[in-house]
Amino acid sequence: MILEHPDHARSIASSGTSTGSLYRRWVGPLLARDEGADAEQLSSLTLAALAQASLRRDWPLVSGSLAGLGAELQRRDHRFEQMLFGCRFANPVGLAAGFDKNAVAAGIWHLFGFGFAELGTITWHPQPGNPRPRLFRLAKERAALNRMGFNNDGALGVKRNLERQRLPLPGQRPAVLGLNLGKSKITSLELAPDDYASSLELLSPLADYVVINVSSPNTPGLRDLQDAVQLRRLVERLRRLSACPPLLVKIAPDLEDDAIDTIARLAYEEGLAGVIAVNTSVNRLGLENRRLPQTGKTLAQEAGGLSGAPLRGRALEVIRRLRATAGPALPLIGVGGIDSPEAAWERITAGASLIQLYTGWIYQGPGLVPAILEGLGDQLDRHGCSHLSEVVGSGLPWVGA
Ligand code: FNR
Repeated sequence: MILEHPDHARSIASSGTSTGSLYRRWVGPLLARDEGADAEQLSSLTLAALAQASLRRDWPLVSGSLAGLGAELQRRDHRFEQMLFGCRFANPVGLAAGFDKNAVAAGIWHLFGFGFAELGTITWHPQPGNPRPRLFRLAKERAALNRMGFNNDGALGVKRNLERQRLPLPGQRPAVLGLNLGKSKITSLELAPDDYASSLELLSPLADYVVINVSSPNTPGLRDLQDAVQLRRLVERLRRLSACPPLLVKIAPDLEDDAIDTIARLAYEEGLAGVIAVNTSVNRLGLENRRLPQTGKTLAQEAGGLSGAPLRGRALEVIRRLRATAGPALPLIGVGGIDSPEAAWERITAGASLIQLYTGWIYQGPGLVPAILEGLGDQLDRHGCSHLSEVVGSGLPWVGA
């Protein structure tokens, strides 16, 4: 079964959660092959159930089940609490953008053990995204290829979804909620700053922080906004809004090193709250160029961004580079290929104050979050550290049992 990967299966299994073992037993076999259960359909079904649970989380039966979920998956430990850009994070593990694009399960992500969740990408105009199939499982490599293309309900639709869930106000929530904003496909690059600004203006009262996503490979031209001149224009436009929440920028793994340095400096100069590294990669990162059963085309021929285990090395390099250029004052969020406690520790000690999960969480299941938190806690003990912030950027090695 895919989830029994030799190097870290033991630690994830040892978290002993029944939700985790149910997931491994029932969902694991579906994820073990590229063909079979459609990846997007599986996600949509799961999200539809989570959306109902979030809307009805006060109903006695639902709240009982959710309390059970939280009891299994949440790990409270004051050594993980951090105050970053005005937000209090109960722990450093977050859900990455793209899973809950319409913010329909915003009220319950903390019960999966997450300290924060990033919702979106949200565009000003509602849009259907690219034609299906547009999400491909690469089971052998514990990876995925996607070209979803920012399918979402649009800023107004997402605002309604959030309001319907009657969430506590920003700053009073059990998990920090970030909103990730992108450019609508029909908006030209020239008008992109206004497009982002319209979404920001509507959604900022609901966000703990906001991410400027300029790194998805699936909206034509979007990544050009990572260019220093364009990015500065965009950030300055957004910062003109009154009561602007903390703004972070999310970057691609495919940038050259000097472009990464430029963004790190720009983030510092423009007073950005942080940088999220990385989005999916247009490179195929050494994967065997095989044919995808759904389309008959090879990996090289298929458009889309790669995520999961093959991204781990490059995502780590980008965090190291950002940390070296920006120093410890700029908070970094590390994402890409994190699927074990070791990978989480490696990213944090390279300079990330927070990390996010997507593809690894799908393959490993919900037990991954408590396994990572237990692993991090154990490493703090072994290194004689009393708080996670002491090890951010420390380069301290993972110490095995
Ligand atoms: C993503 N990701 C993503 N990122 C983003 O900023 N906005 C988005 O809408 C999406 N959508 C999306 C859909 C799917 C199906 C995947 C797999 C990924 C990228 C994601 O947040 C993350 O940056 C990368 O996937 C790398 O992390 P993992 O998956 O290797 O842990």
